[in-house]
Amino acid sequence: MKKVARPFILLLSIIGISLLHYLTPLNMPYLHDIYQRLYYLPIILAAIWFGFRGGLTCSLVVSIAYAPHILFQWGGEIVVEIEKYLEIVLYNIVGAVTGLLAQRERERSIELQKTAEGLKASYRTLEQQSERIIAIEEQLRRSEKLSTLGEMAAVLAHEIRNPLGSIRGTAEILRDDYKLGDPKHEFIEIQIRETERLNRVVEDFLHMSRQQPMKLHQCSIQSELEMIITLVSSDAKNRHIFLELQAHPLDAVFRADGEKLRQAFLNIVINAIQATPPGGNVIISTELRDENTPNAQYNIRFRDSGSGIDADTLTKIFEPFYTTKPDGTGLGLAIAKKIIESHGGALLVESEPGHGTTVTVTLPIQKDATGGKL
Ligand SMILES: Nc1ncnc2c1ncn2[C@@H]1O[C@H](COP(=O)(O)OP(=O)(O)OP(=O)(O)O)[C@@H](O)[C@H]1O
Ligand SMILES: [Mg+2]
Repeated sequence: MKKVARPFILLLSIIGISLLHYLTPLNMPYLHDIYQRLYYLPIILAAIWFGFRGGLTCSLVVSIAYAPHILFQWGGEIVVEIEKYLEIVLYNIVGAVTGLLAQRERERSIELQKTAEGLKASYRTLEQQSERIIAIEEQLRRSEKLSTLGEMAAVLAHEIRNPLGSIRGTAEILRDDYKLGDPKHEFIEIQIRETERLNRVVEDFLHMSRQQPMKLHQCSIQSELEMIITLVSSDAKNRHIFLELQAHPLDAVFRADGEKLRQAFLNIVINAIQATPPGGNVIISTELRDENTPNAQYNIRFRDSGSGIDADTLTKIFEPFYTTKPDGTGLGLAIAKKIIESHGGALLVESEPGHGTTVTVTLPIQKDATGGKL
């Protein structure tokens, strides 16, 4: 029932009951007794619906509608009709008291609702906080894992590197005993190549473990990227991949560890090339953002048209030793991330499976950090 209809219902019922009073002959007092009690229905309803004021207003309207009936039809003798006058008093008491009680009840339920909403909000905050705690814990566990691995790696590297050097050295001597084209020459070549690969893995381990001090010097992002292009262009050509550097006209020159940055960029580009099929392309582009503001940043984007990364894999690619390649170590991106973050930057990987991957490196640059061309 619509709320706006309520006053009309009350009014109609009061008019109806009053008409019954006025139209029923006085020689049927038992009917008048019933009608007299019927007035309580609209009074109680008004009290429940509209509270104290509603109950009292309704009982007053009933009193006004009923009074002429006592006065003019019954004669209005106070002593004879005392019971009817008392009923009028009772109407008003019932209207006021029921209204008051209903109002209090409503106020209490509103308060309870507010408390429930407050509780819900605190529950939500608590939930968010616990989610954050879980995330921090996960991060802590990961860094703990990394530092334990780092310690192990340092010991391992020490133990592995020297024998590796001897193996390589002796293999090189042996190689000279066989002519080019001799199968044994080729086997020894493989042995040397694999030893080099093993050495690289050990080097990577060391990079992860040692908190090597950063060697900061003025460093041009553009020349680092040009060097990367030179390094990987023959590999890209052999794989029939189009490789291009689309540099922003303004270079970023700032204090950084160029060698480390180059290593990070190299890891990202190699991944892009490895993921791209022949005929595909790998584009490196740079962009200067929020120039002339304290938040100026340089974005370096590595976009490939390769296989892409599915959502599940995407959550794991920064984990050390996570790899989907048969001969990968799974350290490339973990190292790159560490290097970029140690420069105060961030590394973002976005991918559309089947269409390619974009890795964005964001480096913050101070006001005087953009180079000569600014
Ligand atoms: N551009 C990319 N396209 C598709 N997958 C990628 C790309 N870059 C990274 N990945 C995925 O992320 C994984 C982790 O990369 P990461 O460079 O850390 O290790 P890796 O390349 O497997 O081994 P490593 O670099 O140590 O030789 C890869 O195995 C690959 O599945
Ligand atoms: Mg890699």
